Amino acid sequence: MSFNLHNRSLLALKEFEPRDIRYLLDLAAELKRSKAVGNEHQRLKGKNIALVFEKPSTRTRCAFEVAVHDQGGHVTYLDSTGSQIGHKESLKDTARVLGRMFDGIEYRGFHQSAVEEIAKFSHVPVWNGLTDEWHPTQILADLLTMQEFGEKPLHELSFCYLGDARFNMGCSLLVGGVQMGMDVRIASPKTLQPPAELVEQMRALALRTGARITIESDPQRAVLGADFLYTDVWVSMGEADEVWRQRIEQLQGFQVNAALMLATGNPRTRFMHCLPAFHNLDTEVGRMVHEKFGLSEIEVTDEVFESEASVVFTQAENRMHTIKAILVATLG
Ligand code: CP
Ligand code: NVA
Repeated sequence: MSFNLHNRSLLALKEFEPRDIRYLLDLAAELKRSKAVGNEHQRLKGKNIALVFEKPSTRTRCAFEVAVHDQGGHVTYLDSTGSQIGHKESLKDTARVLGRMFDGIEYRGFHQSAVEEIAKFSHVPVWNGLTDEWHPTQILADLLTMQEFGEKPLHELSFCYLGDARFNMGCSLLVGGVQMGMDVRIASPKTLQPPAELVEQMRALALRTGARITIESDPQRAVLGADFLYTDVWVSMGEADEVWRQRIEQLQGFQVNAALMLATGNPRTRFMHCLPAFHNLDTEVGRMVHEKFGLSEIEVTDEVFESEASVVFTQAENRMHTIKAILVATLG
């Protein structure tokens, strides 16, 4: 057990030390192995956990539910339509109620200040299941996946994140990659690059961890030699449909397609995506974008998404093992 992490909240990765992340990744790998061979030891017996979602979710919700169940605990799911949250009760009051009943709270919402408020007033560990600014539990799954497929220690691996790098995924990957001493590349137009203050903080941290940081607006240059190309949706949850037109104009040169995979010059480059992804016309949003703008694939082509290089479903599975590690380390 890491005494560092016991009773801690996970609101953003940058609040953790690189050794804490390392500990969580090792624990996740151990929990993944135990589940596979059927000798998992339950460390959340008698724990009640609230899952609060103000935005939709498939992976994060299911990962928390399965992880808690595997570990012998119990979950209660709340969203803003079926509870008083937001309409009749403030987050501050909700936090004080949930804190009296639950041992820990997962929260997904809009601004980071909301998850901070829940943590401040509930007095129990709170885990950020995604805000506009950060998606820390996703990054742990991504790092575990890179470790598994990279077949080298993380500090010897490189990845390039392409897309809207001002938002939760771009910023969180920058932090996680730098904490692990990786070769971190961000490819996005100047208007969608991570906030200058964060980049400055990460450049300072990189001096300590040995990470390399490249922020590029030329995707071909950014991906050279990369072990992993990572992308995310071009319009995130909570953003207005009206931003699609501008975002497509800004990001169309950053689509992950076969030509960009080739441009790495590395035949072993893998493709990553936090999901959900728009790679065909099988979704309402995909069809809307096709009708309005004529694109039948958006941030990634179907060819790359379905290729041997794609590790997206292992990433999705790893959400569960890494979330389980966070729960066991902070509550178990
Ligand atoms: N990647 C991710 O957070 O997926 P969900 O929105 O389905 O939880
Ligand atoms: N940037 C995306 C991530 C989804 C997991 C969003 O916020 O919608």
